[in-house]
Amino acid sequence: MRSEHVNTTFIEQLGSILEPQFILTADQDKTPYLTDWRKRFTGKALAVVFPKTSDEVAKIVRLCSDSNISIVPQGGHTGFCGGATPDASGKQIILNLKRMNAIREIDRANQTITLEAGCILQTVQEKAAQEDFLFPLSLGAEGSCMIGGNLATNAGGTNVLRYGNTRDLCLGLEVVTAKGEIWNGLKGLRKDNTGYDLRDLFIGSEGTLGIITAAVMKLYPLPVSQWTTLVAVDNIASSIALLNLFQKRATSLLTGFEMMTEESLDLNEKHFPQMANPLKGKPPYTVLIELSDYESEEHVRQLLESVLEEAFDGSLITDAVIASNLTQANAFWHMREHITLAQAEEGANLKHDITIPLSSLERFISQTDALMKAQYPGIRIINFGHLGDGNLHYNIAPPLGLDSQEFNRQYEKPIHDLIYAQVEACHGSISAEHGVGQLKLDGLRAHKGSVAHDLMKALKTALDPQNILNPHKVVSI
Ligand code: FAD
Ligand code: MLT
Ligand code: ZN
Repeated sequence: MRSEHVNTTFIEQLGSILEPQFILTADQDKTPYLTDWRKRFTGKALAVVFPKTSDEVAKIVRLCSDSNISIVPQGGHTGFCGGATPDASGKQIILNLKRMNAIREIDRANQTITLEAGCILQTVQEKAAQEDFLFPLSLGAEGSCMIGGNLATNAGGTNVLRYGNTRDLCLGLEVVTAKGEIWNGLKGLRKDNTGYDLRDLFIGSEGTLGIITAAVMKLYPLPVSQWTTLVAVDNIASSIALLNLFQKRATSLLTGFEMMTEESLDLNEKHFPQMANPLKGKPPYTVLIELSDYESEEHVRQLLESVLEEAFDGSLITDAVIASNLTQANAFWHMREHITLAQAEEGANLKHDITIPLSSLERFISQTDALMKAQYPGIRIINFGHLGDGNLHYNIAPPLGLDSQEFNRQYEKPIHDLIYAQVEACHGSISAEHGVGQLKLDGLRAHKGSVAHDLMKALKTALDPQNILNPHKVVSI
């Protein structure tokens, strides 16, 4: 049978599952779904479909399985590794979850929220706050990323230090399998040792093992007081000593510890002058610290001031500004979160989302900075990130005046190789929180070692023998 005929039949069959307005096939309609946020990957798709129920998702998967058409699950399409972008074949469909956006239940006694995969993260945070709860997952893309995408990538963000990654916030999942069956694992249990942990298998699998349609997530009491401060630090060793000091004195009150280098904030100021660093001069490292508590404002403020005083006395910090109100605290966070946007304004860049044990971080930075500067004179190292988690966004922008696309074409591979070799030498990871997608498919093979990589392939083969769920992302079978 000619492939156009197969495609036409397939689209007609889709029409028996979804109403026509939820099946996009015209080029101009599909275009917004074909390129990732970074504009790093563009693909083609036979159709973009928008199911409303888990049952519709299951029917679509069964149809795809019968027609041998592969599926790219898509949430907010804010991922950094091209996981939600189709390939160039034009033979895949994009299954976008945005219409599955119901909050099914808030269980106050169990402190859980049951919600569908297409809920926008910010909406979930707001809904939880209206009910006097905290939903702690927080990241720069929260206005458009979706809970299904957060689960599929096991997103990190700025509250991991206290509340963990998305995985740690999830108690149960509903998943459509590659066979088109619905697995209902929506139990809000904090203990459940009934065999293999299927939930944890799907979390972080980037749409390659199943399609997440709903989840039960943890809620926490809403903190009553929060203090945010920016401090100036001379070097990375002092930044880590400062983190350890806060961990000791503030213990679980420490909810944020983010690091920004001078070069990162210079780039921010270039594109967003209103976001200038309020600290004096241009400190080599600016650290954003947040404490949250359930006691009075005064209690936390006193604690913060006493730890900062100790840090000054121990010469760990050279300057500090405590946000005097919520507006100023938000401005500090915006400054941190805008670095990614400033990089996007500046042009294409090379991202390295890495984790290093805190004890090796100083060695990693000093050695890698030196190697990069020697081999690529004029290179700009935009290093910032979630220092409390040992997670650096060690991003690279080309020397000023060079065309970024051309620079990346020439140097992407050797730069990745250099940086990832340093990560390996420090026993780190080449993906802390952004995932693998198509960007790091080869990198993962090299990084994981053959035993782990073969186990991953065996899992993929067992759960999706036909290879119809997001093929050639994370692992290729
Ligand atoms: P998408 O990009 O649509 O998809 C991501 C992957 O998940 C793809 O492989 C896709 O196929 C799969 N997928 C999506 N939905 C489902 C589903 N329902 N079932 C199965 N698979 C699915 N990430 C962090 O971890 N920490 C940060 O601090 C952070 N900051 C960011 C800041 C900015 C400005 C931007 C643009 C991105 C940031 N990200 C960050 C990256 C991104 O927002 C996260 O990876 C997010 O979790 C992706 O969610 P999404 O809904 O956009 O997923
Ligand atoms: C962030 O933490 O802001 C993003 O994950 C980092 C990035 O843009 O690389
Ligand atoms: Zn991040």
